[in-house]
Amino acid sequence: MIYQKQELISEGKTKRVWATNNPRHAIAEFYDDAMMYHAKKKVYFKNKSKYCNQINCILMSILEDNSIATHFVQKHSDCEMVVRRAEMIPVEVVVRNYVAGSMAVRLGLEPFSKLKSPVLEFCYKNDELNDPVINEYHACAMDLCTPEEMSLMVYTASRVNKLLCEVMKKIGIVVADFKLEFGRVNGRLVVADEITPNCARFWDEETLLRFDHKDVNPEYEYAEILRRLQENYPY
Ligand code: C5P
Repeated sequence: MIYQKQELISEGKTKRVWATNNPRHAIAEFYDDAMMYHAKKKVYFKNKSKYCNQINCILMSILEDNSIATHFVQKHSDCEMVVRRAEMIPVEVVVRNYVAGSMAVRLGLEPFSKLKSPVLEFCYKNDELNDPVINEYHACAMDLCTPEEMSLMVYTASRVNKLLCEVMKKIGIVVADFKLEFGRVNGRLVVADEITPNCARFWDEETLLRFDHKDVNPEYEYAEILRRLQENYPY
């Protein structure tokens, strides 16, 4: 079907979401002045939205092909995708394979060290409170999700981590950590939002550093990850 954009439904840090002529589907549009969360600074470069959309479309398609339900329907344009309209669960699920960022600070651990086993953390999605870390008990007691949804989020996040690590290993990239969000579509839990370098630490296998660590050209990291994905995963 040909999708037509209608009214704006929501505007986040990296995306705008529009209603469409199909009441079950929306168009999510990445925009260029997106917040790059990990560095707690804004990184602008021309075409950032295009890199993010293409990386996300490839990774979401890989998840779908491996029977992991997502909100992704199809790519719509260079910087837009069609998604199923979902009721978002206000819990961020962070999956970590290496120590980095807030985990290093909070627990006094050596950055860049590999964890003995993956760690899952949960944050309450709330800008005013700066997305505080919570646990499964908080999430259920605060009625952010049901205990069944929490179990499924844990199971799915572990499956996504295993798959993402395999996919990225093939192209010389280490998945240090990433953040997932989930939504409900007709009561069914799906992976929603995005999987891009906006919300993940993807490191160069050779250096165990971000591709842009010299801060010379912020575009390089996104361009290099997309180039490697496109060469190996022709979606
Ligand atoms: O900053 P921190 O180390 O907690 O982030 C862990 C991972 O989760 C990083 O990949 C970061 O980009 C992602 N994250 C995110 N949005 C948040 C919190 C974390 O994308 N609100």
